Amino acid sequence: MTSPRTIAILGSTGSIGRSALEVIAGFPDRFRAVYLSANRNIDLLRDQINRFRPKGVVVSDPERAAALRSSVGHGVEIMCGAEGLLEAAGRDDVDVVLSSLVGFAGLKPTLRAVEAGKVVALANKETLVVGGELIMKSVRAGRARLLPVDSEHSAIFQCLQGEDPRTIERLVLTASGGPFLKVGKEKFPGITVAEALNHPTWRMGNKITIDSATLMNKGLEVIEAFWLFGVPPEKIQVVIHPQSIVHSMVEFVDGSMKAQLGIPDMKLPILYALAYPERPATASRRIDFETLRELTFYPPDTEKFECLPLAFRALQMGGTAPAVLNAANEVAVQMFLDGELSFSAIPFVIRDALNAHTPMHAFTLADLERIDGDTRERTRRVQATLLT
Ligand SMILES: NC(=O)c1ccc[n+]([C@@H]2O[C@H](COP(=O)([O-])OP(=O)(O)OC[C@H]3O[C@@H](n4cnc5c(N)ncnc54)[C@H](OP(=O)(O)O)[C@@H]3O)[C@@H](O)[C@H]2O)c1
Repeated sequence: MTSPRTIAILGSTGSIGRSALEVIAGFPDRFRAVYLSANRNIDLLRDQINRFRPKGVVVSDPERAAALRSSVGHGVEIMCGAEGLLEAAGRDDVDVVLSSLVGFAGLKPTLRAVEAGKVVALANKETLVVGGELIMKSVRAGRARLLPVDSEHSAIFQCLQGEDPRTIERLVLTASGGPFLKVGKEKFPGITVAEALNHPTWRMGNKITIDSATLMNKGLEVIEAFWLFGVPPEKIQVVIHPQSIVHSMVEFVDGSMKAQLGIPDMKLPILYALAYPERPATASRRIDFETLRELTFYPPDTEKFECLPLAFRALQMGGTAPAVLNAANEVAVQMFLDGELSFSAIPFVIRDALNAHTPMHAFTLADLERIDGDTRERTRRVQATLLT
């Protein structure tokens, strides 16, 4: 019998991290969680330590790390901060790094995992949006393997098994449409945080749930697909599919299409990435055509959901423009969640940031960090002027 795959989960206290631990618990002979990480949720991390007995954990802030150290005792290494994440991502005793941090914070540890030649199961789409060029260059130069966890990209990856990538005619990313699919744009200024967090088909972390409500999530996924599959923007299409059963599709040059279907449950694409190229049996809920009845598809309303065309625009601008899109979006979403920005102002501040940016086309990680910081500062300033 082969030994279990060792897995470092960066962001084990998040929605993807928790689902991944459920997957791992279901396959103790196949997988072992060796490193875990948390930002603020130390109580949950302590429970995860007691249940999964990892070799080590990473905690963002030194005070929380000290508190955890005194309560879990010896036997578990406690690392701290951004350095700790880099350490866990590159350790020799890790086979697979699950990159499930949210936002820009995922970029450096994911890059480290790629440079260390790991299998990287990638949930953190912002990493490819911001640093796709650096990540893919490093993947091509080394031994690392990038496996998508996002359900749409996992679907496309599954559709492409056994296919020649040169025969791709079009990628079709499906989108549920979020909670405001049928809400008129004139209602957008009054949308509350609770309404925006009420996603119809998926239970996820707050940031991606707001991104789904604005359709920025689909825009970020278009950029993610561009990097993962090497398909130009004009060959990537978004369609609204409210049932979230068809996870995405590929059209080939002969006119035929392949789609991947399944019930909306992130444990399925997580398992696919962790076990690849095997496909272990599960007792997950199956599609029931008696109750399903219909699958519907229609084009997105890009006048109503302005974030989607903004993402296409950033991709067309190229270079550092998607990093600006991402930073402005992260700030705008957090401000909306904190009650400091209206839902309808989110695309406004992102457009303003893109308008002000002249993309660099040759850049380093340090350039990306500087541009990310500058954009965050500028976005907060613009938001302040909106309030005065
Ligand atoms: N959720 C989904 O169904 C889903 C589906 C597809 C793709 N994704 C992508 O997967 C990623 C994670 O999403 P999620 O929904 O799981 O997010 P989430 O629930 O908010 O979890 C984020 C994780 O990252 C940690 N974290 C947050 N900020 C951090 C920082 N600055 N430094 C270090 N750690 C930090 C959090 O720690 P604490 O909780 O301890 O604060 C948590 O463990 C996102 O990029 C998202 O777009 C998610």
